[in-house]
Amino acid sequence: MLKADNIEVWRGQTQVLKDFSLELTPGVITAMLGGNGSGKSTTLYALSGLVPLKAGQIWAGDTQLTGVGPRRAVAAGIAHVPQGREVFPTMSVRDNLLAGAATVKSRKLRNERLERVLDTYPVLGAKLRLAASQLSGGEQQQVAIGRALMTNPKVVMMDEPSAGLSPALVDTLIDTIRKLGEDGLTVLLVEQNVGVAVHVASEAVVLKAGAIALHRPANELLRDKSLLAAYLGH
Ligand SMILES: Nc1ncnc2c1ncn2[C@@H]1O[C@H](COP(=O)(O)OP(=O)(O)OP(=O)(O)O)[C@@H](O)[C@H]1O
Ligand SMILES: [Mg+2]
Repeated sequence: MLKADNIEVWRGQTQVLKDFSLELTPGVITAMLGGNGSGKSTTLYALSGLVPLKAGQIWAGDTQLTGVGPRRAVAAGIAHVPQGREVFPTMSVRDNLLAGAATVKSRKLRNERLERVLDTYPVLGAKLRLAASQLSGGEQQQVAIGRALMTNPKVVMMDEPSAGLSPALVDTLIDTIRKLGEDGLTVLLVEQNVGVAVHVASEAVVLKAGAIALHRPANELLRDKSLLAAYLGH
């Protein structure tokens, strides 16, 4: 469904991705692991059209996404939940969610999408009028993911959603992400927390030296920790 073909990405003077290829399996949660500064966030920026490619191509099915920019990536069904649980703190939960469908002209369609997000995350239904800042960290993460769902995506990419959450909230987050898989979405989950990654994902990839060094079923990595250690260095 979403495919990067030999892409190359530079940030300033630094080459971050080099001969990077990845094809996401449709309807599957794929975890992306990699050390600090290995280019995980850059991968998501590139796949969502937010940074230019120096070489290579990106495809969403038969749609060429290379160089089309973020709007057309969203229109092709690619949603991106950025690192850092970004919500608009003073805006209501409802308005935070509706912001994800700001370009949808039909109010009926916006409300239908809102209902669908609330079916997925019913906890938010009772808190629609609260300011987002009044929610717990885990609920704010649901708002951030919910806003991405308001674009009616086929692919959801998430950048370290477990960062800064307490262990109890991480359990809730795992359910939060699993629900997306149950709904048939294709998910790319960037995680530093290997435990979260391999428990929630069916497939896992390791990013090393700007390219995908390993792509395996997640349970294989769970069984053979030495495999992961060899690539992640711990
Ligand atoms: N805007 C930028 N300008 C220049 N260099 C950048 C920029 N953003 C990132 N980089 C560099 O690109 C490399 C990859 O950064 P990136 O944020 O993609 O890594 P990451 O794997 O997401 O790291 P982290 O685990 O810290 O989130 C790093 O060396 C970083 O310093
Ligand atoms: Mg990052």
